[in-house]
Amino acid sequence: MAEPEKSWEKRLAGGPDDLTIDFVESLSIDKRLYKYDIVGSIAHAKMLSEQKLITKDEFNSIKDGLIEISEEIAAGRFKFEKKYEDIHMAIEAALVAKIGEPAKKLHTGRSRNDQIATDVRLWMRDQIEMLQAKITLLQKAFVKLAGKYAEDIMPGYTHLQRAQPIVIASYLLSFAEQFERDFIRLKNCLCLLNISPLGSGALAGSTLPLDRKSTAKQLGFLDISYNSIDAVSDRDYCAEFIFDCSLIATHLSRLAEDWIIYSSSEFGFVRIDDAYCTSSSMMPQKRNPDLLELIRAKTGLVYGSLMAMLTILKGQPSGYNRDMQEDKTHIFAASDTAGICLDVARAIVSHTKFNTKKISAKLDEGFLDATALAEYLVGKGVAFREAHGIVGSLVAYCEQQNKNLAGLNLEELQKYSAAVEKDVYENLGAAGVVYKYLTAGSAGPKQAKEQIAYWNNHLGQR
Ligand code: ARG
Repeated sequence: MAEPEKSWEKRLAGGPDDLTIDFVESLSIDKRLYKYDIVGSIAHAKMLSEQKLITKDEFNSIKDGLIEISEEIAAGRFKFEKKYEDIHMAIEAALVAKIGEPAKKLHTGRSRNDQIATDVRLWMRDQIEMLQAKITLLQKAFVKLAGKYAEDIMPGYTHLQRAQPIVIASYLLSFAEQFERDFIRLKNCLCLLNISPLGSGALAGSTLPLDRKSTAKQLGFLDISYNSIDAVSDRDYCAEFIFDCSLIATHLSRLAEDWIIYSSSEFGFVRIDDAYCTSSSMMPQKRNPDLLELIRAKTGLVYGSLMAMLTILKGQPSGYNRDMQEDKTHIFAASDTAGICLDVARAIVSHTKFNTKKISAKLDEGFLDATALAEYLVGKGVAFREAHGIVGSLVAYCEQQNKNLAGLNLEELQKYSAAVEKDVYENLGAAGVVYKYLTAGSAGPKQAKEQIAYWNNHLGQR
């Protein structure tokens, strides 16, 4: 049996089994919260002194001791011992060893239940800021790349089949939109989580005159939580945060999938820079997009964390339960994974080139102008359904003749519709079509340039 060193050693006889110590400890995971635990404790101690629950001198010695501990941890001089269970107990034990008696008053009116809820909210605020900064850098990389290809045309796909012509810039800017929503989702998550649970105690608050507004203010929270039972058992923000990371991962995985396909010899649309490729141990010619594949795969880890988090929360009885300790593994994993994948994606996007020659050489394949031709007929008074049928027949005819729509002469076209006139050729050929796009938000050069201007201004303000 290990030597009992716990705050509750007086209650349980003989001390915990070694297996118990190993199984319940979270120190190996939650030690990364130390900074937040310490600022939370300093705020709590300050409030205790304001409320005359401890003296000014006691507060000062607690504060100085905690700052020293923080420096020791930062410098790697702190010995983390799992017999202390978690970061809260490890720091408190170190404080007792350092300053003696006053340290024993730090936990007045506090439980680890409100303490951990406070630590995690503080940590998450910083993570959200960090992720938002990485998202912004990635968006800027997309906008910069889009600026180079505002007039270059590529096939747009639906069902991975050639659909309509688009400019490369529009394709790239579609990612700026996706990541903008991720940015906003994180902002919303921050709004909901930025309230202080400190002072809620184990579940019922305290009989002591704690000033919760003081600690909330010191820690930069916008408000205090209003119900102590909910405050210690709420982990909604953890699930939400991981969901936000999951959608970041989703968007990154779709980018990765596109560029894995686009960088294949069959497509040859993009060239991923050598710095972000790997080769093969056997096949000397290989340039593999392993980083993109890993981004795609790591999405699985983030989704796994989301499912784990939701399942941890499901069916827990009201109030704090130790189940909640398992949240850290998943919020940390999701955040770290989203963060590193955003960094890698930004590096790749910043160094990728589109092979515009190869793309344009095949633009007349796949009848990219078929929809524009149908819309041309609409302009000539043909009902869209009828126009759709006419162009469908024309495409079938072209396939038989091994031609494309722009290669048909006026007579051939007019055989299918008397509405066709000479000006039809302005609407044929992928290159011409993108300049015909009129609707706001279309994938043409005009709209892409407007979007680039918008993003430069919008992201420039961050
Ligand atoms: N380490 C715990 C957690 O992460 C906090 C401690 C609460 N433990 C307890 N026995 N009340 O949730």
